[in-house]
Amino acid sequence: MAILLPGGAGYIGSHTAIELLNSGKEIVIIDNYSNSKPEVLESIKKITGKDFKSYNIDYRNRKELEKVFEENNIEAVLNFAGYKAVGESVQKPLEYYDNNIIGALILLETMRKYNVKKFIFSSSATVYGDPETIPITENCKTGGTTNPYGTTKLYIEQILKDTYASDNTWDICILRYFNPVGAHESGLIGEEPQGIPNNLMPYIVRVAAGILPQLSIFGDDYNTPDGTGVRDYIHVVDLAKGHVLALQKLEKENQGLYIYNLGTGKGYSVLDMVKTFEKATNQKVPYKITQRRPGDIASCYADPQKAKQELGWEANKTLEDMCRDSWEYIKKNQTK
Ligand code: NAD
Ligand code: UFG
Repeated sequence: MAILLPGGAGYIGSHTAIELLNSGKEIVIIDNYSNSKPEVLESIKKITGKDFKSYNIDYRNRKELEKVFEENNIEAVLNFAGYKAVGESVQKPLEYYDNNIIGALILLETMRKYNVKKFIFSSSATVYGDPETIPITENCKTGGTTNPYGTTKLYIEQILKDTYASDNTWDICILRYFNPVGAHESGLIGEEPQGIPNNLMPYIVRVAAGILPQLSIFGDDYNTPDGTGVRDYIHVVDLAKGHVLALQKLEKENQGLYIYNLGTGKGYSVLDMVKTFEKATNQKVPYKITQRRPGDIASCYADPQKAKQELGWEANKTLEDMCRDSWEYIKKNQTK
């Protein structure tokens, strides 16, 4: 029996592949490498010392996808495939709805055809929009997304709820990630945004490495302790471990739809991030304060108690770990 990971060569999928292999699971990865490289598969094998099958296919290709289900004994699917750049989604909404939503539909239909009904979905804190209360619990209102990317997450969550309501032999887990950062401690895999990064940590490491001249801090007049935006940064390895425990929950419970926040429960400001990065890596991060970025909210952090109580999961790595591992990854890969 194997776990299928569409998008398993990407940032979060590759770290989860390692944790699944280390927990003794067999995996199969499918990816079209639209936002990753096939070399990642070799790194996963090197880190774990384990082999696995992979397919270079688009998960929207029904025929190719069916072949994967024919050739392997799939017991569950963890879906990481999709596009994720907020700004790009505003420019290319149709591409985002197509890849994320049509992809999810084809995947779910194929699973139903082969009677594979355990599914874990990579959702996002973005589904909470501008949260009414923080820390955010899973019961907080969802909606009010400000970009097509976020809306794809909201729609897929609804598709999953409707699917479960129509047939409760499904076993579904929706994981709402907060802000994943960091890299595997080996320095072999990490985040590889294409072009100039949008997200804070990839931008900070590129400034520290001298690839970009300085960080722009988007606003210091928010209603937060130092005026800069507050987020719940979570180490990608902690996040990956959450998937292993979510899978165990689905295997144990057999039938249900579960939703969990995966965050640390702690909010850090942009300035906290800069200071912690400088201390953890001994590198300078020059910055200037600029205007707010449209669509940004002041504060967003999780209440992770439900995942702790029901999955036995909690994040262990510190902000220093996240900064150091992100830095080690770029240092290693700049010289490659
Ligand atoms: P990523 O871009 O690194 O990984 C996605 C992978 O899917 C890539 O390897 C890409 O090549 C592949 N892919 C894309 N379209 C495909 C297709 N049609 N067929 C086959 N493969 C395809 O992104 P990530 O950061 O690892 O994110 C994984 C999931 O988690 C995504 O659904 C993302 O929206 C979600 N998420 C990410 C974050 C974050 O900040 N990284 C936060 C919340 C949720
Ligand atoms: N920021 C800067 N300068 C930068 C980049 C970011 O000041 O160059 C600030 C932002 O204004 C924000 C904070 O750093 O206050 C974090 O910004 P990110 O872009 O790293 O993260 P977001 O919280 O805006 O968004 C991320 C993902 C979304 C996801 C969301 C919630 O990009 O896909 O977290 O999970 F939906």
